[in-house]
Amino acid sequence: MKQPDTLLEIEDLHTGFELDDGTVRAVDGVDLTISRGEVLAVVGESGCGKSVMARSVLRLVDKPGRITGGHIRVHGDDGVVDMVTAPGPDLRAVRGRKVAMVFQEPIASMSPMHTLGNQIGEALILHGEATKAEARTRVVELLRRVGIAAPERRVDEYPFQMSGGMLQRAMIAMALSCGPDLLIADEPTTALDVTTQAQILDLLRELRRDTDMAIMLITHDLGVAAQLADRIAVMYLGSVVESGTTDTVLGSPRHPYTRALLRSVPKLGSRSRERLRPVRGMVPGPYARPPGCPFHPRCDEFMAGRCDATVPRAVPAPLPDGAKGTDGTVSCLLYGADSVPPQKGEPAA
Ligand SMILES: Nc1ncnc2c1ncn2[C@@H]1O[C@H](COP(=O)(O)OP(=O)(O)O)[C@@H](O)[C@H]1O
Ligand SMILES: [Mg+2]
Repeated sequence: MKQPDTLLEIEDLHTGFELDDGTVRAVDGVDLTISRGEVLAVVGESGCGKSVMARSVLRLVDKPGRITGGHIRVHGDDGVVDMVTAPGPDLRAVRGRKVAMVFQEPIASMSPMHTLGNQIGEALILHGEATKAEARTRVVELLRRVGIAAPERRVDEYPFQMSGGMLQRAMIAMALSCGPDLLIADEPTTALDVTTQAQILDLLRELRRDTDMAIMLITHDLGVAAQLADRIAVMYLGSVVESGTTDTVLGSPRHPYTRALLRSVPKLGSRSRERLRPVRGMVPGPYARPPGCPFHPRCDEFMAGRCDATVPRAVPAPLPDGAKGTDGTVSCLLYGADSVPPQKGEPAA
């Protein structure tokens, strides 16, 4: 399925945590691709495995988490690295340089003991992007690039002296320092107030306009996804249940989970005050994984004896309004996801 401009291919990824009470299947068969320069939003409620999936891409899953299967292929001019099996030197060559990440808790990934200049500068020196003498100038440039005012002064400040928005900008500057092909931004606006959220979104939009960097934008906020993404992947309990172009997924969602998510947020772009309905029920606990389709206990379209018995596999998803063709994938029995493929000689539907 690899397209010529494929940058990242995640295939049947499984990441679990072996705990005393059992195994948490945090990522349970994720399939995703990102092309060069593309913005993919990964959406879904809290606890659905978005962060663990993102950390898996860089092989930075917290202990006792472990990737137990699948492939994460990072394509470059110099070949392909599978992050699942790659040895240390190959991992380090990808981290930062090809794929960089802004983590969900910006403050936790900064050292409180060092100035911004030293932290970001050190990353530059470590990756051979700058000499000691150049590092400070480069950091000032990067801070200016992400919209930090008076960067010549800020470069000598410590994280505790900065606002949440400024720290988030600094984290993005650090991620940009080695010119990655892909930036993974995990809930980059979640911890911020509304005004600062808008500013960080503007910054990401500028970056996508001015560079050919691809972005994997992880967010539980469909409004954020709508503003930035070319394509959207919807995750539920560790797997992608629907994917497609942003217009299709948000305008004509096909999976009942995506529909329910959309009913739970104000209509995108509208000012009307229609009644919002939260998604019925809750994301089940990590040990209470339902049999069959993981969404069936909360689904408005539940079909007894089928949805609780069969795990739907991803199939090409129909275009809206009966138009010919497909856009992305959907994993739901409503779309014949459990049917056998058409026999040879049978006309394709
Ligand atoms: N360090 C960890 N130890 C045990 N379980 C974890 C750990 N990190 C995440 N999990 C579990 O993995 C699942 C997915 O979590 P996460 O990827 O953080 O979800 P999301 O980012 O979509 O909110 C959850 O059930 C969570 O409890
Ligand atoms: Mg998360």
